[in-house]
Amino acid sequence: MSFFSDLQVLYHMALKPIRGDSHKDRLESFYAGQADAYDEFRKRLLHGRQELWDTIDAPPGSVWVDMGGGTGSNLEYFGERLATLKKVYVVDLSPSLLEIARARIEKNGWTNVETVEADATRWQPPQPADVVTFSYSLTMIPDWFAAIDNAKQMLAVGGLIGVVDFYVARKYPIDGRKQHSWFTRTFWPAWFGTDNVFPSWDHVPYLERHFETLRLEEKDAGVPYVPFGTMPFYRFIGRKRGPEGIATAAAEPSVTETEVSGTALAAGRIA
Ligand SMILES: C[S@@+](CC[C@H](N)C(=O)[O-])C[C@H]1O[C@@H](n2cnc3c(N)ncnc32)[C@H](O)[C@@H]1O
Repeated sequence: MSFFSDLQVLYHMALKPIRGDSHKDRLESFYAGQADAYDEFRKRLLHGRQELWDTIDAPPGSVWVDMGGGTGSNLEYFGERLATLKKVYVVDLSPSLLEIARARIEKNGWTNVETVEADATRWQPPQPADVVTFSYSLTMIPDWFAAIDNAKQMLAVGGLIGVVDFYVARKYPIDGRKQHSWFTRTFWPAWFGTDNVFPSWDHVPYLERHFETLRLEEKDAGVPYVPFGTMPFYRFIGRKRGPEGIATAAAEPSVTETEVSGTALAAGRIA
């Protein structure tokens, strides 16, 4: 980490206008000039990614799709498990972030990882996926409904979806869920919205409507260089139901118990 690389990122986040006629062009306008410095800064901004990876226990031979996988930094969280997976796809629309991902894959000699330059709302893998993850990408996908629908379509019955992302609570959340102040619900969406990051109160309800909830955690953390307040984020793990409810086969991915704080719900099979 250097102050200069932080300045480079802060310039793109706070000052440089984002231009482009398409979503892909706007992403590239935002990321191209900060791709090199991306990982170091995001380690301090995008919390809970390692915990998500550690919690999802994919059996050997699984197919894992990381939607909006960017520089592929999440691949580091697999550790030795990576070699046991059949295939990992890192899907992203930003060529400059995928270039970093490809360099990482080559450097580590990961032969079962493939980068795919494609839209997460439409791309489908050649075989059904056992796990689909979104780490801080749903808030950057304008049609995030379509991205979740697309993930559901590619998942095998019993497969898992894991999401970690910023959010804000509904004004009147359902019982047991966190409430956020007016300031949190108003300020952070406006702040992040300037970078086309849209924290939503609808992600979690939509995910819960479409998947069996295995785990939901609501947390918050500080934002680098912002001396006040904390930004809420959630971690969700859900399972795709079969036509008649839940299917559980021996080789399905499962959820590993880890330290939980904030609001946590757990159901289904917890290893
Ligand atoms: C905040 S970054 C997170 C990157 C990575 N998942 C991580 O945890 O570091 C959001 C990512 O979503 C990608 N993205 C946004 N919209 C997308 C879309 N429609 N299809 C694929 N990727 C998209 C961006 O290019 C970017 O890499």
